[in-house]
Amino acid sequence: MGRIIAVAQQKGGAGKTMLVTQLGAALAELGTVALLDTDPQASLTAWGRLRASAAKAKTALDTSTVSGWRLAGELETLKSAYDYIIIDTPPVIDSDARRAIRGADLVLVPLNPAPPDLWAAEGTLKMTFEERRPAVLLFNRAPAASRLRKRLEAEIAARRLSLLSAALANRAGYANAFAEGLGVTEAAPASQAAEEVRAARQALLTRLEDPAALAT
Ligand SMILES: Nc1ncnc2c1ncn2[C@@H]1O[C@H](COP(=O)(O)OP(=O)(O)OP(=O)(O)O)[C@@H](O)[C@H]1O
Ligand SMILES: [Mg+2]
Repeated sequence: MGRIIAVAQQKGGAGKTMLVTQLGAALAELGTVALLDTDPQASLTAWGRLRASAAKAKTALDTSTVSGWRLAGELETLKSAYDYIIIDTPPVIDSDARRAIRGADLVLVPLNPAPPDLWAAEGTLKMTFEERRPAVLLFNRAPAASRLRKRLEAEIAARRLSLLSAALANRAGYANAFAEGLGVTEAAPASQAAEEVRAARQALLTRLEDPAALAT
């Protein structure tokens, strides 16, 4: 049975779609992966189209678009055919976001390590709590060490929220790979960005095994 990860964060531009593509490409090194676009902006679908003609794409990575009540049925079908299913969601809190969260084994919430991004995630976190789904935060565009990041880590720990120790820095490589329909693990397999993504993949897989853990 496949495992389902929903990438959700009410705040726009937090890196949801970028993460779906990076983790999708990296997980495809380990198993079969399906990506689901539930965002009307359809940027994941656009990435999938670019990928179809990308010479460096190592796997096909099935990308489909689905919305509304069809999501639950689609997830059931995909679960029996793929090892990992990753859902990209729009930057809103509505019934579609709830369906994606409800259908997930784990909800991944990317955020810049700055207080406004945590405040903006409250609606998403509340929904995961209501749907009794484990949520895990991931710092994106994170400086290696900063006072703000440390402060936010302390706040997250105090609230007993879960944070992946693996974070992604702000790197042109992510945007460049995206523009080519690739993940950084394909576009630049030996880069620091690829190393970061593989570390995030590992932390995520560990968390899928033990969703209640607070730190990985
Ligand atoms: N770590 C990063 N380093 C460099 N650029 C990044 C990083 N993360 C995201 N970006 C860039 O920031 C922009 C927003 O990212 P993305 O589209 O993934 O966010 P999103 O959360 O999906 O946005 P939306 O809420 O509109 O769907 C994109 O141009 C993306 O390439
Ligand atoms: Mg997006």
